[in-house]
Amino acid sequence: PSILVLHGPNLNLLGQREPGIYGTVTLAEINQCLQQEAQAHQLAVSFLQSNTEGVLVDAIHSAQDQSQGIILNAGAYTHTSIAIRDAIAAVGLPTVEVHLSNIYRRETFRHHSYIAPVVLGQISGFGADSYILGLQALIRHLRQTKQ
Ligand code: DQA
Repeated sequence: PSILVLHGPNLNLLGQREPGIYGTVTLAEINQCLQQEAQAHQLAVSFLQSNTEGVLVDAIHSAQDQSQGIILNAGAYTHTSIAIRDAIAAVGLPTVEVHLSNIYRRETFRHHSYIAPVVLGQISGFGADSYILGLQALIRHLRQTKQ
């Protein structure tokens, strides 16, 4: 059983990108923490970062066979992408939406998420911890729904 962690556009620049908003932690460090957390629960985790919408859509499609759940930070595509939302809805895998920043205390264009209506829930505003909290929530959901 494995969990897919998907990072959208510009998240490869974490650590140097607007540190006042996103902090100084790098994507590699976030992935390492997630790896440790998953391992503590005897779960495998795989990671993908892409700046390209279609690559993220393809990864969601592939997850249907390869993964039991998804952690998704779609970055700016959160606010624009009906294609990513439709992909999540199409595969039907339990998905947790995460954001480093609290999107509701930022610009109004960030207040709307196309992703939110098709996910289990959203965690926003806790920096890198949003990912860990999201993973814990997904694992608890998977354990509760396991038959
Ligand atoms: C983000 C929030 C988005 O509004 C922004 O476009 C990002 C990162 C976050 O993690 O806080 O790229 O998803």
